[in-house]
Amino acid sequence: MIFNIETERLILRDMRLSDLDAMFELDSDSEVHRYLGNKPIKTGVEAQNTIESVLNQYEERGIGRWIAIEKSSGLCIGWSGIRLNTEYNMNGFTEYYDVGYRLMKPFWGKGYATESGKAAVDYAFNIMKLTELYATTEIGNQASHNALLKIGLNYVEDFYFEDEKLNLRWYKIENK
Ligand SMILES: CC(C)(COP(=O)(O)OP(=O)(O)OC[C@H]1O[C@@H](n2cnc3c(N)ncnc32)[C@H](O)[C@@H]1OP(=O)(O)O)[C@@H](O)C(=O)NCCC(=O)NCCS
Repeated sequence: MIFNIETERLILRDMRLSDLDAMFELDSDSEVHRYLGNKPIKTGVEAQNTIESVLNQYEERGIGRWIAIEKSSGLCIGWSGIRLNTEYNMNGFTEYYDVGYRLMKPFWGKGYATESGKAAVDYAFNIMKLTELYATTEIGNQASHNALLKIGLNYVEDFYFEDEKLNLRWYKIENK
């Protein structure tokens, strides 16, 4: 599946096996994983498994997270985009689309989560014709909370995610 979305400063494209080094750099960083359950990866095989899972989602669900490339440098800055979640029960939802992002540290604080998140919402509503989109963050992840509100999501409530024993927040945006 080929994705190629252009925003002012980013290209959002399909994830590829050749993104292995960037994905390892991203997911082996303990600071990146601070609000993601504190489980950074240790091996390239784990990064490869993540990529293969996303490629499977493209095939089976027609959507999955995208790689974000900074246009000015050509560098991969992390991932962003939409995911169809079917693997767990989140706040009572067992099948729902969410918007999310995970960026490498040097690219934080530049508005890239907001910019890529807005493009993802636009894609969800105008291309996929979804009627609603959700998001979650861990309580305390102020950067992500602020980005979600700037993207246009509304904070709904806090909930406890039993599987990972995490206190999370639940957000929603409707296509009106
Ligand atoms: C969360 C994350 C994606 C935010 O990305 P980002 O590109 O830095 O976010 P933005 O620049 O779009 O910032 C959005 C808003 O949050 C604010 N913000 C950014 N970092 C912040 C921080 N550490 N604390 C408080 N506010 C912060 C910004 O100022 C901005 O609001 P403003 O324009 O009113 O000032 C990034 O920090 C990251 O990848 N973290 C690790 C992975 C992660 O936690 N992903 C989200 C899981 S739900």
